[in-house]
Amino acid sequence: MTTSPAIATESLSKNYGKLVAVDRVSFAVPSGSVFGLLGPNGAGKTTIIKLLTGLSEMTSGSATVAGFDVGRDPMHVKQRVGWVASEVILDDDLSGWQNLWLQAQLQRLDDWQGRAEQLLEYFELATRRKEKVGTYSTGMRKRLEIALALLHQPEVIFLDEPTIGLDPNVRHMLWDLIEGVNTQFGVTMLLTSHYIEEADALCDRVAIIDHGRFVAIGTPDELKRRVKEDFIELETSEAVTPDRLAAIPGVTRVENEGRSWVLRVTSAEEVLPHLFQALRTDEIRRINVEKPSLETVFRDITGRRLEAAGSDVQDFRKFYVNMRRARR
Ligand SMILES: Nc1ncnc2c1ncn2[C@@H]1O[C@H](COP(=O)(O)OP(=O)(O)OP(=O)(O)O)[C@@H](O)[C@H]1O
Ligand SMILES: [Mg+2]
Repeated sequence: MTTSPAIATESLSKNYGKLVAVDRVSFAVPSGSVFGLLGPNGAGKTTIIKLLTGLSEMTSGSATVAGFDVGRDPMHVKQRVGWVASEVILDDDLSGWQNLWLQAQLQRLDDWQGRAEQLLEYFELATRRKEKVGTYSTGMRKRLEIALALLHQPEVIFLDEPTIGLDPNVRHMLWDLIEGVNTQFGVTMLLTSHYIEEADALCDRVAIIDHGRFVAIGTPDELKRRVKEDFIELETSEAVTPDRLAAIPGVTRVENEGRSWVLRVTSAEEVLPHLFQALRTDEIRRINVEKPSLETVFRDITGRRLEAAGSDVQDFRKFYVNMRRARR
């Protein structure tokens, strides 16, 4: 085992013409750990994966992955990394086993059959190996995709939004699986997500990325400790004014969009009774308390919501993935 990090970047940047997709990003991922890139649509997550896997050329900066310099030695890097793309990559007309065979050809692997058998067992796909992937459930497909990425025994695997568009129960099953792969196979993982809970549950360390920049980096707990205040989201009737809300003891900041309010408060438990006293109950249409989470960290830094941002795009993508499947 090496003690050097599995991934290390120094001021890594990527421009597409005038657009700075990745902006001077520096980080290190210790061998065997799980690192998460958390950010909204278009933040630069996939671009970072493309740079680190040698699929896309960096504009400036440097990166080492699995001990090799990505700029100078992309071939050695490619042999040592696996990638689970956010799009569907399986061939539905081939069986599970044939998909593994195809992967072995693409990677020019000899002697892959034993490993493939093991992976099918591990991912509980062995009994369905001869069936076309088109007949697999979403969870099975995802498991097969991870198996493909592990076939050549990579040191590092990149998972690009591994659970995008999946139902919550499939998502939780995948979390367990990802954790299992990390510990059982000892692979370092870099995953991207815009699900707060996912990054929190899976990652040893998380970088929050926005417009190509790391705006925060740390363990989920470290990040959560940064935001000491709670948020109260409110929807009220027209009669409520900012002054009335700001006057409530414990309210430190008031922001609003029409009748939707976001209050920053020292402690939601202490402020709520005062709030109910100050506003007549019939003036409150909806109320929601947010305790410190990676969501509030993102909001604290950027002033925007992470999970709501681009949720339409997410739904659209899920729709698109399903359409593609249905057409086959
Ligand atoms: N090949 C390309 N040519 C031009 N611009 C690109 C290209 N690939 C990505 N971009 C732009 O770079 C930015 C970052 O894109 P990227 O795909 O890395 O975001 P992301 O964080 O993965 O987003 P998402 O959550 O939607 O997958 C976006 O503004 C995107 O439009
Ligand atoms: Mg992406």
